[in-house]
Amino acid sequence: MNNMPAEHKPVLAELIGAELKPKSDAVVVDATLGFAGHSSIFAQSLGPDGVLVGFDVDPKCLEASRQILSNLPCKVLLIRRNFSEIADSLRENGIEAADLIFADLGVCSGQLADTERGLSFQQDMKLDMRLDDRLEMTAADIINNMDEKGLADLIFKFGQERASRRIARSIVQYRKSARIKTTTVLVDVICRALGCNPNARRSRIHPATKTFQALRIAVNNELDNLEKFLEAIPLLLRKDGRAAVISFHSLEDRLVKNNFRLNKTAGVYDIITKKPIIASRQEMFDNPRSRSAKLRIAVKI
Ligand SMILES: C[S@@+](CC[C@H](N)C(=O)[O-])C[C@H]1O[C@@H](n2cnc3c(N)ncnc32)[C@H](O)[C@@H]1O
Repeated sequence: MNNMPAEHKPVLAELIGAELKPKSDAVVVDATLGFAGHSSIFAQSLGPDGVLVGFDVDPKCLEASRQILSNLPCKVLLIRRNFSEIADSLRENGIEAADLIFADLGVCSGQLADTERGLSFQQDMKLDMRLDDRLEMTAADIINNMDEKGLADLIFKFGQERASRRIARSIVQYRKSARIKTTTVLVDVICRALGCNPNARRSRIHPATKTFQALRIAVNNELDNLEKFLEAIPLLLRKDGRAAVISFHSLEDRLVKNNFRLNKTAGVYDIITKKPIIASRQEMFDNPRSRSAKLRIAVKI
């Protein structure tokens, strides 16, 4: 059953509509379909000779997008597959080259609110965090089985959390009496380690933000998948085709920036965005998720 609220405001939508407007016969690949927010914008320009390919690992997103994208003049192909396998998948579907390959990384607002996903530190949920339920390891598996040093290193590396050792110690301490099965218990354990009250928020950033980010990255193997995706793009783009990626934290953005620079040095890309494009103050106010969004665009030469 799809209990996920089908809600998501696409970030940088206006700008993307203007900067990445495809020709009517273009092949557009949206590697992170979500609720088809950006795909719907691209689809407005695609005619009967155009193709829109959407990837997502979450079947609920694909189901919702299938309805949103019905009745379009262009051909629509929605694929449940990890974008790290984009090259194989496009080939298997008879698509040789694309004019635009786009990704809006991370998770949708609807996924954060989905009680089955276990991604939110603001609601009580079973600790899971898999975007793709075919994956075997959940966040609860990591939290309850990894040793203290492994946990501390993971929280530091993927969450950039300076208090990672204290948090890991607190997790291992709690585990001596009970398993950590829910997001609320994990938030309490983190707050205990940091000496803060989960309900008394002093800073804009919730104390569990970095640990939750680290776990989500680890569960979904996000950085390895992004690297594979970025490496595949140049071989899939036509000449003058564009690669556009929106990232939401510095670990992702660094991978995108370095990949684009390497391809520029190799004479494969021109970089359109010397500095990443960020949201306007108004958009940041209207859609808090846009505050950390960074869009980088490269063109194949
Ligand atoms: C931020 S949302 C995209 C929202 C979309 N741009 C929109 O406007 O509706 C990111 C989506 O990418 C999916 N996703 C994340 N990592 C993925 C991966 N490695 N392969 C395929 N889909 C992925 C998530 O399940 C999620 O639906």
